[in-house]
Amino acid sequence: VEIDQPLRDLAGRRLLVGTAVDHAALTADPVYRERIATEFSSVTAENVMKWESVEPERGVRDYRAADELVAEARRNGQRVRGHTLVWHNQLPSWLTTGVESGEIDATELRGILRQHILDEVRHFRGRIYQWDVVNEVIDDEGELRDSLWLRELGPGYIADAFRWAHQADPRTKLFLNDYNVEGLSPKSDAYHRLARELLAQRVPVHGFGAQGHYGVQYGFHSAAEVAQNFARFEALGLETAVTEADVRMPMPADTVKLQAQAQGYSVLLQGCLLSRRCTSFTVWGFTDKYSWVPGFFEGEGAANLLDESFAPKPAYREAQAVL
Ligand code: XIL
Repeated sequence: VEIDQPLRDLAGRRLLVGTAVDHAALTADPVYRERIATEFSSVTAENVMKWESVEPERGVRDYRAADELVAEARRNGQRVRGHTLVWHNQLPSWLTTGVESGEIDATELRGILRQHILDEVRHFRGRIYQWDVVNEVIDDEGELRDSLWLRELGPGYIADAFRWAHQADPRTKLFLNDYNVEGLSPKSDAYHRLARELLAQRVPVHGFGAQGHYGVQYGFHSAAEVAQNFARFEALGLETAVTEADVRMPMPADTVKLQAQAQGYSVLLQGCLLSRRCTSFTVWGFTDKYSWVPGFFEGEGAANLLDESFAPKPAYREAQAVL
């Protein structure tokens, strides 16, 4: 009888295979915990390293949940991706309301951002192999995203964020990360220009992460296109990664959609494997039992490799076959 081969074993030394981890589920669900341990060689905190989680009140830092996640990873012999230092979502409300009311001006805000990055990266120093330093800073048109950061601090906040992160942990790899950048597009073009400009200014940028949030109704790139896109970032000297793969579908699921979903995962995984420096492939959750998708995309779901009972779906079999 064939024993099921875990993804991390099939990948071997070629790349790290990761998953986002829901901290509450990790604590409450032993089957979930066990499956993460056997299946994956890398983990990303789905929420507990985000700013609203680590500094819920101004000046009150709380890394307890994130520390538990990192400790569990260590027990499992897993690496940890850090997610994320600068984003326009999941900011603490003291910060957003402070800026909106004018209580926090631009000078003070820059100091707050600097302190946040220095503190969090220092806290995990030596324990995080890749950090998503800036998340989703370019919009779908290829312009810098209109966010609190751009409005208050101007475009220089991106270079500043990388420099502060590098200062706090000189050995961790610092990533740009976004969605809709898996293939060739105005948005990925804009990231390529941004990466080139940052590197020309000697900003410590080491990696480019494509989130990989796909939907069966939108179709997928080809694996060759993903690899071609990654290759141009690698030509700049960067590592690449698929950081948040999932493939959602309009509910209910059926055989055709599940087959299409397997194709979506296959493209992202093959795209990574066809690339010279794609160092990690991470899924944004691995079981339909715990997924952000139904809560964010009305009428959609079933986006993960395993179903709600942790049974393999065609996408999981496809991932095994590709690896
Ligand atoms: C999502 C989490 O999965 C949810 O639990 C949370 O409520 C919102 O954020 N892009 C990202 C991730 O970079 O941080 C997001 O994670 C999904 C989209």
